[in-house]
Amino acid sequence: MTERYDAINWNAVSDAIDKATWEKLTEQFWLDTRIPVSNDLDDWRTLDDTHQWLVGHVFGGLTLLDTLQSQDGLAALRQDVRTPHETAVLNNIQFMESVHAKSYSTIFSTLNTPDQINEIFDWSDTEEYLQNKASWIYDIYRDTTVDPLKKKVANVFLETCLFYSGFYTPLFYLGNNKLANVAEIIKLILRDESVHGTYIGYKFQLGFNQLSKNEQDSMRDWLYDFMYKLYANEEKYTHLLYDQVGWTEDVLTFVRYNANKALMNLGQSALFPDTEADVNPIVMNGISTSTANHDFFSQVGNGYRLGQVEAMKDDDYSVGAPKEPKPKD
Ligand SMILES: [Fe+2]
Ligand SMILES: [Fe+2]
Repeated sequence: MTERYDAINWNAVSDAIDKATWEKLTEQFWLDTRIPVSNDLDDWRTLDDTHQWLVGHVFGGLTLLDTLQSQDGLAALRQDVRTPHETAVLNNIQFMESVHAKSYSTIFSTLNTPDQINEIFDWSDTEEYLQNKASWIYDIYRDTTVDPLKKKVANVFLETCLFYSGFYTPLFYLGNNKLANVAEIIKLILRDESVHGTYIGYKFQLGFNQLSKNEQDSMRDWLYDFMYKLYANEEKYTHLLYDQVGWTEDVLTFVRYNANKALMNLGQSALFPDTEADVNPIVMNGISTSTANHDFFSQVGNGYRLGQVEAMKDDDYSVGAPKEPKPKD
């Protein structure tokens, strides 16, 4: 008899978090083409050459990282799933990574000339520190002998930390009431990454908790070493991009703050002393502004209308779990 092949049954879901994540991700689905980026052209023309260079190259770097995720990151994670529903969630994530990677091209085609766009892609395909982070993560993804839990670590480090040196720029402008539509795309990406990082971190913790004490210790040593290596490279990348505008130290604080969040997604302790209070309030302000939805047809910027969405809360993951008794008041 040939090996049997099982149909996915969504009426027999063994991990309620798979279903909750699927629902969350599908209700916050979005497309870059529905954001009126050209409304930012007046703001764009007020930026000098140095700041325009920064915006273009920051997005070049982000394009490379989202390309890696869409082409190899999720495919690597799909090799080691616990449930068929996890595969479905990873399929959704993989498609959205393609949307993310494409959305920067939508921004480029609006703000940049064809020559500038070519130069940005030449830069992102060759810049040393950017290529370092992409290739170190890719080496783990494509290694068929590596512990699959390490692929989840690489994924969460990339998405919850390494993107943030790039995200800083549009969030800074948003906090200063500039480039609001460009920033809206970034905020939609951030909203996705927040769910991806939490979900993949959760799946990591399920596997980590099954390891022996010794295996946990060696996994912990490995992941902190890897974070140090990535951070040391991120410092150089950040200097390269931001020294010319004088934002480097603020960006690195933001990167360390997000490195801690990545470690927390994996159920590990924070590595750096930086907290939310240390991050430039203009950038935190940019993050906290709720997404300004855009009406596709009138292009009046008040509402990306495809399902009602809200920010993730911790208890979004309590689906199916027994409710904790409410404290008596
Ligand atoms: Fe992404
Ligand atoms: Fe992602």
